[in-house]
Amino acid sequence: MITNLRGRDLIGDLDFSKEEVETVLSVAWDLKMKRALGIEHAILRDKVLAMLYFFSSTRTRASFEAGIAQLGGHGAFIESRTTQISHGDTEKEMGEIFGRYFDGIAIRHCDWGIGNRYLNLVAEASRVPVLNMQCDVYHPFQCLADLMTIMEKKGRMLRKKKVVVSWAYAASYSKPMSVPQSLVLQLPRFGMDVTLAHPPEFSLMPEIMAQAEAEARKAGVHFEVVHDMEEGFKDADVVYAKSWGCMNYSTDADEVRRITDKYKDWITDDAKMALAKEDSIYMHPLPADRDIEVTSAVMDGSHSVVFDQAENRLHAQKAVMALTMN
Ligand code: CP
Repeated sequence: MITNLRGRDLIGDLDFSKEEVETVLSVAWDLKMKRALGIEHAILRDKVLAMLYFFSSTRTRASFEAGIAQLGGHGAFIESRTTQISHGDTEKEMGEIFGRYFDGIAIRHCDWGIGNRYLNLVAEASRVPVLNMQCDVYHPFQCLADLMTIMEKKGRMLRKKKVVVSWAYAASYSKPMSVPQSLVLQLPRFGMDVTLAHPPEFSLMPEIMAQAEAEARKAGVHFEVVHDMEEGFKDADVVYAKSWGCMNYSTDADEVRRITDKYKDWITDDAKMALAKEDSIYMHPLPADRDIEVTSAVMDGSHSVVFDQAENRLHAQKAVMALTMN
């Protein structure tokens, strides 16, 4: 087991090797059990995590803040719009200065073509770990919690298990493509056969697809892309269906609306879930557009594991903080 993760950044899903992810999961389950048993685990006493947000959050903010407190430290919530970042503080200055104040810097910056670059520039200048709370390319902590949840529900040997990562229609806003990108990168490494389902205009970034295909080849698993939701759901053990934007196709708001509205029938409902295995699980990182992206019957139904999935954000994040910030 590789345990020396002290000082490491987690920005992209492949920043940690498979063995290092296994270490994270082991620590996450240990911390989850300690919390269940009321065993104190103040591994990061007196450590402070900067939590810098350029974009709204419910789960990420709450679980990072609760997590660092449970580890004996403190989380400092900072919004870009109430700092001097909007008046010119640069990435280098943020990395240098926050690196001297804090023991870790967690950042959420989802702006298309900007967020991931921002995190990497801060990391270059920082002497402490930079943790990606979601950017335009990756959502690695969501993916760790997802993997943890899949293993809890389907067992730790995932070879020959099929996951469908599917696009779904949403009316609220153009969501980042970071969640599906993280999933197609990470899950093949753990032996899962991956089917990516989306309308043609909603492709993922070509460089991420190339990496995902390479990971699938290396792991000897099946990786395919289909443009039909029903076809994707067929015989799936894990259904992971959520919306994302068509940024690779167009960023013009009117065109995006017109294209997205062509696919209102891409909703997860009981009929589509019936195409998956009888004991399949339904996953969503939330927030979801209820009864637009997924029916309430599925979201609140017997296949749904969305609350366990949300809970595991806490344990997975505590594990990474404990390993990298100690
Ligand atoms: N899943 C997720 O990242 O949720 P929030 O956007 O609420 O943080």
